[in-house]
Amino acid sequence: MLNWFLELFDFMPEEGSTWAAEVDWVNNLISAISVICIVGITAVMLYFAWKYRRKSDDQQATSYVTHNATIETVWTVIPTIICIFMFVFGYKLYHEMRNPPAGAMEVNVQGFKWGWNFQYPNGKKSSGELVVPVGEPVKLIMTSSDVIHSFFVPAMRVKEDVYNGNYSYLWFTPIRIGESRIFCTEYCGTGHSEMIGKLKVVSRSEYNDYINDKADLPPAEIGQKLFEANCQTCHTLDGTPKIGPSMQALFSSGKKHEMEGGEEVEVDENYVRESILNSKAKIVKGYQPLMPAFEGQFDDKQIESLIAYLKTL
Ligand code: CUA
Repeated sequence: MLNWFLELFDFMPEEGSTWAAEVDWVNNLISAISVICIVGITAVMLYFAWKYRRKSDDQQATSYVTHNATIETVWTVIPTIICIFMFVFGYKLYHEMRNPPAGAMEVNVQGFKWGWNFQYPNGKKSSGELVVPVGEPVKLIMTSSDVIHSFFVPAMRVKEDVYNGNYSYLWFTPIRIGESRIFCTEYCGTGHSEMIGKLKVVSRSEYNDYINDKADLPPAEIGQKLFEANCQTCHTLDGTPKIGPSMQALFSSGKKHEMEGGEEVEVDENYVRESILNSKAKIVKGYQPLMPAFEGQFDDKQIESLIAYLKTL
């Protein structure tokens, strides 16, 4: 009966982890109590305003009222008990969420302006997409390479801020195979709303294949994935200027970029490499030096893959 009643207050998204049912139950309980209180208090307030209104022009002032110890005790004790209830259920869950089991698989997460990088226990890296096996606890150890971000997966009911210079963590056990979205929930600049990643929950065997997949894709395909995960928030492919210049036909023969200050630079591998690793070295005319430096985030092979991809545009 209680659970049926609480379901009426359930507006939560799909349940993707073992937390979901518990989090939703506590959330629905608090929502139900809040709705009952606000409706009850408002109804009594309106009724009293009507009942004790001034009924005629010559009505005398009401007699002087001091207090009523019984009523005051009741309206203090009952809400206190309700608050303790909410605290106990909330705290129990919070305590579990802050204590990952010893055997949890650990994945390193790096937030940056504007995307997410992941590194798995065997050293495999991915960008923009986190792949985890179903039914096994996963602990994410998270940091940021620049400003504060916040890692949020609504379907898993987990959220934690990510800082530059230290590690924060969260953990969850996914309960079903499928995809859900990762959001950044800390306003971190112009690309904040597009700082979206994908969480892919797969079977154990599919996960093993994924992290052991050393089969190299062609560089341009690796580059495309890197571009989609890291660059397309700011750089379009169709010629439209965005936060940065468009990458359309970047490598077409003899193309030159005019810099702030009038200098002309030929678009070649070195120029592109420098612009990725040390992004403020040369600023294209008409743009702000907003791009983060990717020094240390991409290795040579990744840079080469990005260049290979840019050449296909
Ligand atoms: Cu990162 Cu908002």
